[in-house]
Amino acid sequence: MMRAMLRRRRILRVTWSAGLLAFLLTACGDLSTSLDSPLSTFEEAGPFSQRINGLFWPVFWVATVIFVIVQGGILVAAFWFRDRPGRKEPKQIHGNAFLEVTWTVIPTIILAAIAVPTVQAVFDLTECGPDAMDVEIIGHQWWFEYHYPDTGITSANVLVMPTGREVCARMTSDDVLHNFWIPALNGKRYLVPGQETLLRLQADEPGEYWGHCAEFCGLSHSLMRARAQSLSDADWKAWVAAQQEPAAVPDEGTAAYAGLEVFAAKGCTACHNVDFSDDDRIALEAAGLAVPALADEAFNGPDLTHFSSRNVFAGAYLPYEGLGYEDSLSLWLANPPEIKPGSYMPNLNLTGDEIQNLIAWLGSNS
Ligand code: CUA
Repeated sequence: MMRAMLRRRRILRVTWSAGLLAFLLTACGDLSTSLDSPLSTFEEAGPFSQRINGLFWPVFWVATVIFVIVQGGILVAAFWFRDRPGRKEPKQIHGNAFLEVTWTVIPTIILAAIAVPTVQAVFDLTECGPDAMDVEIIGHQWWFEYHYPDTGITSANVLVMPTGREVCARMTSDDVLHNFWIPALNGKRYLVPGQETLLRLQADEPGEYWGHCAEFCGLSHSLMRARAQSLSDADWKAWVAAQQEPAAVPDEGTAAYAGLEVFAAKGCTACHNVDFSDDDRIALEAAGLAVPALADEAFNGPDLTHFSSRNVFAGAYLPYEGLGYEDSLSLWLANPPEIKPGSYMPNLNLTGDEIQNLIAWLGSNS
């Protein structure tokens, strides 16, 4: 009876341990494909992430060797010198000056050897290079805003950058602490209200790199994502030229024009800027569509001028995988706080037609 109970308990313990181990091992997924693990720090794509991993791996292997030696020594000692009947106490080494000095000097040498390249890397990653392109990154609850001071471009959610050129991100926050992190391009750095922090970013190949806000910043922190898109020289120039164009006014009578009317009538202009030319603004106002230019300090939603040139929206959280761009946009416009809890974009109780027209208009903002 007693033995059966003990056996059952042992089986239960083994099952639990195996389950826990299996659960922990799920964290070690396949790191070889960037789509399965878009936030892997081991998928380095530029010199700054390479610099970090160039430190990480040697330190990791040194630590592994030390771990094996120390833990192995403990196991051997515990087994070899274990208490057995008739055994005398082993020879004690407390106060052995030679041993004390040896095991103080060896770790000191190892730590000093690690410290030199570490401190060097910390300083190298702190200052931007002389040829870097400045981009201002502003954190908001819950999305990232990008300003390109050289070209006057304002964008959101996707940090577009030229391939092979360093971007010097000059970062701050509009509200609370955020943390900008594109693991393939560099480590994390805080965005602090009232302060400027720097982050060097560079991608060696054209491509898309995923990121995330890495500091708890309120209700929808977990949905505050980021993207970096690295473009070839020709694509970069085309992007800049397209972004510098003012917003297009849709033709009257189209769904896009009706969407612009919804935008003007529903109070969206209180938070969202759209960069119409001055002439277009005056003409629109004469037609009863007031779309005033927002002063910078009033600005607290993403600039919508070239909205559909970005493949993501709502803090790079949408579109939902598998749902598609327009269906996700439709869900978002219908009730933003339901999708992103705490969102400052309110539920405007838009009708289905209003939502479809808005989608048509946003789609025309390429
Ligand atoms: Cu912003 Cu977390």
